Amino acid sequence: LTVAMDEQRVAFEPAGELPQALRPLTPAVFRGFAELVYAEAGIHLAPVKQALVVSRCSRRVRALGFTSWRDYLDLVQRDPRERVHFLESITTHETHFFREPNHFELLRTMVIPALIEAAAAGRRPRQLRVWSAGCSSGEEPYSLAMLLLDLLPDWHLDILATDLSARVIESARAGLWPIRKSQEIPDAYLRRFMLKGKGAQAGVMAAGEEIRAVVRFDTLNLNDARYAAGTNLDLILCRNVLIYFDQVSKRRVIERLIQHLAPAGLLFVGHSESLGGITDALRAVRPTVYSLKENHQRAQ
Ligand SMILES: C[S@@+](CC[C@H](N)C(=O)[O-])C[C@H]1O[C@@H](n2cnc3c(N)ncnc32)[C@H](O)[C@@H]1O
Repeated sequence: LTVAMDEQRVAFEPAGELPQALRPLTPAVFRGFAELVYAEAGIHLAPVKQALVVSRCSRRVRALGFTSWRDYLDLVQRDPRERVHFLESITTHETHFFREPNHFELLRTMVIPALIEAAAAGRRPRQLRVWSAGCSSGEEPYSLAMLLLDLLPDWHLDILATDLSARVIESARAGLWPIRKSQEIPDAYLRRFMLKGKGAQAGVMAAGEEIRAVVRFDTLNLNDARYAAGTNLDLILCRNVLIYFDQVSKRRVIERLIQHLAPAGLLFVGHSESLGGITDALRAVRPTVYSLKENHQRAQ
């Protein structure tokens, strides 16, 4: 018993030093967070998302020593770095290699053969410019890189991959994933384009040189009034990003995004993100795949 008491003396301190409990998030303070997220990122946080804010941010709020969510809201409002941290916590970054395979199938069977034919007839250069907008940790742009390097071996390929979150861009640039992710990649591509960690890197898969060479990463907020993503892009993929936007911010984001599309370019959105009623400038060539209407006026 004496030993146990001694151990307790070392491991505990007087209860007066215990941190105070974090008080519940009230609807009014939640509205403050929702307004900030909407203004900053275009993302609509419906009231049902209150539990999400609590589950994703409580640990951070406690670590900062706050007992009230209003104090954290004040900090997020006045400190741009904390704002980035907060936005990263409440956005969803889930992604997979070759996610929504029918898009990759459409590229392989229809879009790329048509591009090859056009280049052979001298109607277009042998180069392809692609933008993965909202690329998360890089699985989408690296999947595109594998497919395009395979099917367009002697073309000049340029894949821009962007995301609001600097943290996911850093991880995409590093190009490292747990080895179980290899199951998402067809065998032939896995062997040709990916590396398997040895020794201290066992259990890790790394992007190989060939795919790294054609993908460039940058942070970019699609809700910004202006951004540099280049013009005349052949393919834009903005998949599973707009699910979190409302009609107004979705329209604004799409109208800006398509200013970057080449006249014959294609825009891919995620499978639950129809653009019906969003803009008159696009026509659906497939559900979730869009091209510009011919009479679409490009902004100056
Ligand atoms: C669910 S992931 C989708 C990744 C990939 N496109 C896919 O389909 O697998 C959504 C990504 O969109 C990003 N995002 C959310 N709002 C954004 C905004 N306003 N500008 C740019 N990226 C944004 C998030 O940071 C997140 O990484």
